[in-house]
Amino acid sequence: MDIVLSGIRSTGKLHLGNYYGALQNFTRMQENNKCYFFIADIHSLTTHPDPKLLHENVKNVLVDYLAAGIDPEKSVIYVQSDLIETTELYLYLNMHAYLGELSKTSSFKEKARKQPDNVNAGLLTYPTLMAADILIHNADKVPVGKDQEQHLEMTRRFARRFNHFYDVEYFKEPVAYNFGNELVKIPGLDGSGKMGKSEGNAIYLADTPKEIEKKVKRALTDSGPTEQNSVKPDYIENLYTILKVVSTPDVVKHYEDKWNTCEIRYGDLKKQLAEDIIKVTSPIRERILEIERDNEYLKKVTLEGAEKARESASKTVNDVREIMGFKKF
Ligand code: TRP
Repeated sequence: MDIVLSGIRSTGKLHLGNYYGALQNFTRMQENNKCYFFIADIHSLTTHPDPKLLHENVKNVLVDYLAAGIDPEKSVIYVQSDLIETTELYLYLNMHAYLGELSKTSSFKEKARKQPDNVNAGLLTYPTLMAADILIHNADKVPVGKDQEQHLEMTRRFARRFNHFYDVEYFKEPVAYNFGNELVKIPGLDGSGKMGKSEGNAIYLADTPKEIEKKVKRALTDSGPTEQNSVKPDYIENLYTILKVVSTPDVVKHYEDKWNTCEIRYGDLKKQLAEDIIKVTSPIRERILEIERDNEYLKKVTLEGAEKARESASKTVNDVREIMGFKKF
């Protein structure tokens, strides 16, 4: 059984794109792997979030994940800052992480450009903390998007370097978890590409049916096709892409035919689309509303999660200390 570890950004609520792109796969993944899911709240400190909002952000993400099917009975779900062992390993790994390579990381360069007044050491060592997250459980696989591949590559390099320096075969080199063809990309509603890329183009799992109807209604369209069987412009194709995911094949065929014969009425298409999105999100939203009020449950989940995570984490830290030469008197 593989050890799979997934780090979750603690900013932003989850949208339909996250649901089909990641969450659905996560719920499947937990059936036949040893899965760790953690919320990366320490990483979020690099941008100096308002302390009053930090906890709320963690809570939102935690609630969304639980509501969408991450099962604390099957997986280990925890908050990064609850597992202090990670930060200890981070400190040790930093002794073998070099300024040259860290400052060349794409994410560092991008952030340094975006926040020139706050190019802090945490930002520089973001990849070391991420490596510690992964190596603390000696994970085999890490589901990551394209933007995180370089960080994963650095994790492998840190693992290799540690093993080589101390002449051990301790850390495994984690690889990206590949969902292959199952990976579904959900476009946004404004023709801008990916859902979540720009303001207002995402449908959140926690959105009310009214909000969903409103957002879908506002989606970009035009005056309709003038030639039979014509190619759809991107922003129309996007609506069909979402329809294919949330609706039945019959419904999709109906609207494809309407398009091809130039009889499409966007009002109808949008009504149908909103209705079918609501069918998917409603049960999740109900769970969100239920869980978010239940602080006892959230407390239990995070406490037990951290406890379970600590089993492998404290072993790793003890082993690493020994390898590096620390000894008790
Ligand atoms: N850097 C990741 C992101 O921005 C989040 C993350 C932190 C992560 N630690 C991780 C992902 C460990 C995978 C494994 O999305």
